[in-house]
Amino acid sequence: MLTINLMQRQIMELKKEKGVVIVAHNYISQAIREIADHVADSYSLTEIAQRTRSETLLICGARYIAETCKVLCPKKKIILVNKEANCPMAERFTADDVKRAKKQYPGYALVCYINTSAEIKALCDVCVTSSTAVNSCRKIPNNQILFLPDVNLGSYIASKVPEKTFAFLEGCCPTHAKVTAEDVIKVIAERPGAKILAHPTCGPDVLKLADFIGSTADIIDYAKNSSAEEFIIGTEIAIAEHLQYAFPEKRFYPLSKKLICRDMKIITLHDVYDCLMGRGGEEIELASQVQLRSLICINKMFELNG
Ligand code: 13P
Repeated sequence: MLTINLMQRQIMELKKEKGVVIVAHNYISQAIREIADHVADSYSLTEIAQRTRSETLLICGARYIAETCKVLCPKKKIILVNKEANCPMAERFTADDVKRAKKQYPGYALVCYINTSAEIKALCDVCVTSSTAVNSCRKIPNNQILFLPDVNLGSYIASKVPEKTFAFLEGCCPTHAKVTAEDVIKVIAERPGAKILAHPTCGPDVLKLADFIGSTADIIDYAKNSSAEEFIIGTEIAIAEHLQYAFPEKRFYPLSKKLICRDMKIITLHDVYDCLMGRGGEEIELASQVQLRSLICINKMFELNG
C-alpha cells in the first residue's frame, strides 16, 4: 500500500533526478506544500517562474497561473498538474465580452485580475494580483479604469483609489463571494478577540468587518508577525490549515466552511507523481499572438510594481 509519506519521498527523488521544479499556489494541500520547491501568492509565483533555472515547471494551481508562467517563460516546459483545475471567475467572460466592453468604455484603461485566461489578458492593458492591485491602479496614468472580472476586488481597489473612476465587468470568485457579514458576526461572537484576516475578493460587507485585508501571502505574514493568539482566516481553508502547521502555538479558524475552492481541492499528490512519470497533466501551449500581447499586459504589472 502507498502512503502519503512514501509518495512524497518518491516525488522528492523523481524531481531531483529529472531536474523538475514544483511550484504551488498558497491554496495547495498540505501534502503537496511539503514537497513543493516554491509555495507563494500569485504575484510571487510569476516572479519565481522567471527566476528558476529549471527547464520544466510543474504548476500546482489553477490554469491561469500556468498560462501566466508560460507567457513569462515561453521556452520552458510548463505543466499544469491537473488539467481540470480551472478558475470559474477566469472563465466568466469571453474575449467577445471584453471586446464589447472596450467599445462601451472608450478611454478607460482595461485592468484585469491575474485570474483571467491569457486570451483575456491579451486584450487588456494591465494585469494585477491581489497584492499589487491598489498600487497598480494608483500608478497607471489613466484616470478611468474598467476592471474585470472580480467586482469585489474591483470595489475594494476603488475604495482605496477614490481619485479615479471605476467601471466593472461584474464577475466574482464563487468561493469568497459565498461568505456573508452574518458569517463574520457569528464567528466574532464565538471567538471575541480573534483577528479577522480577509482576502480582498470577499464581499464589501465582509471586508468592512475585517482587521486586515491582503493577499494570501500578506495574510500569512500578518499571522506570523502578529502578537495575537487567535485568527479567523477569510480565504480558502487551506490557508488556515497551513498556518496551524506553521505556527502551532497560535490558533487558526476558517471564517466559514463555505471557503472551499473545488478547483484547488482536486489537485493531488498523485497528479504530481503522474506528471513526474510523464503521464497526466497538461503542457501549456499558447497561440503566438496571445503569448505576445498578454506579455505586454503582464509586464506592465512588473513595471508598475518594481
Ligand atoms: P493571491 O494568492 O494572489 O492572494 O490570490 C489568491 C486567489 O487566487 C484568490 O482567488
